[in-house]
Amino acid sequence: MKKIAVLMGGKSSEREVSLNSGANIAEALASLGKYEVVPIDLTEENLNQLPEGVDAVYIALHGGWGENGGVQAALNARKIPYTGPGVKASQIAMDKLKTKLVLEMKNVPTAKWDLAHPDTPKSPLPLPVVVKPPSDGSSVGISKVSTDDQWAGALAAALAVTGEPGSAAGETHRGTVLVEEFIPGREFTVAVVDGQAWPVIEIVAKGGWYGYKEKYTSNETRYPFLADSADPKDAELEQKLLKLAVDAYTAVGCRGVTRVDFRVSPLGHCYVLELNTSPGFTSHSLVPKSGMKTGLTFAGVCDRILASADYDR
Ligand SMILES: Nc1ncnc2c1ncn2[C@@H]1O[C@H](COP(=O)(O)OP(=O)(O)O)[C@@H](O)[C@H]1O
Ligand SMILES: [Mg+2]
Repeated sequence: MKKIAVLMGGKSSEREVSLNSGANIAEALASLGKYEVVPIDLTEENLNQLPEGVDAVYIALHGGWGENGGVQAALNARKIPYTGPGVKASQIAMDKLKTKLVLEMKNVPTAKWDLAHPDTPKSPLPLPVVVKPPSDGSSVGISKVSTDDQWAGALAAALAVTGEPGSAAGETHRGTVLVEEFIPGREFTVAVVDGQAWPVIEIVAKGGWYGYKEKYTSNETRYPFLADSADPKDAELEQKLLKLAVDAYTAVGCRGVTRVDFRVSPLGHCYVLELNTSPGFTSHSLVPKSGMKTGLTFAGVCDRILASADYDR
């Protein structure tokens, strides 16, 4: 029997979600009857004390060093295969600035953007814009700016997460925030596993904004499959998003599982918002939902992703 460690918890702000994801994955893998599953609530101290004879690691950590290449580097050093992308792709995806640079370099469409700093008096792009910290979060510190008088508050909110220039926070872009053209329209997400895209899911949030509240506390967000849409034009959009999701995954150098998020303007222009290299696996998370649409069970989805585990060679 193969021994599989499921890493969860960690110290990031997404600890609770990760514990939930990890428990689901561990239970699902164990139910298949072919693995010895060892759930591990990971702290930086116990990574070097992984049990003996682990054949592969399922990374169910979200945010922080579980998703930014830190854990991946430690597992590379021990030649233990793990789920999700390697060090380089994890680092790029966790950093929205690097992601945008890489996507632009590879001609994958993403919203127009610029940078702002504590003394930037007004938006460097025409309003409306979205102001966000350059590193991943759970929509914390992100706001839409529609009028000039909202600029200072949005900048301060993003800087509060990023850290002031010269502050001791562990953030690589201290004092810098990302300003993006606001893309009106619809929002979608696509799971890519081993370079293959799974059915596109639309995110229909009340008010058209999928922020912290909509993600974690609202029951009013709906997640229909685009393929189930009654609009015949949506079949074409599905094909376009499936292709762009794989393009983004490839551009960033991902392997294993990654979730690619999009906005689509009323004219049908698609823009990659971001890539999530360790997507959620709670009972209402979108990657398992999409995998189950292909005919797999929840446990089958976990098994498929586990089969894609590897390390940087
Ligand atoms: N450029 C944009 N145009 C329109 N909406 C946006 C834009 N950027 C972010 N949003 C909204 O904010 C949400 C969170 O932004 P995102 O960049 O995905 O950050 P996070 O890493 O916190 O999820 C998105 O799901 C989307 O609803
Ligand atoms: Mg997001």
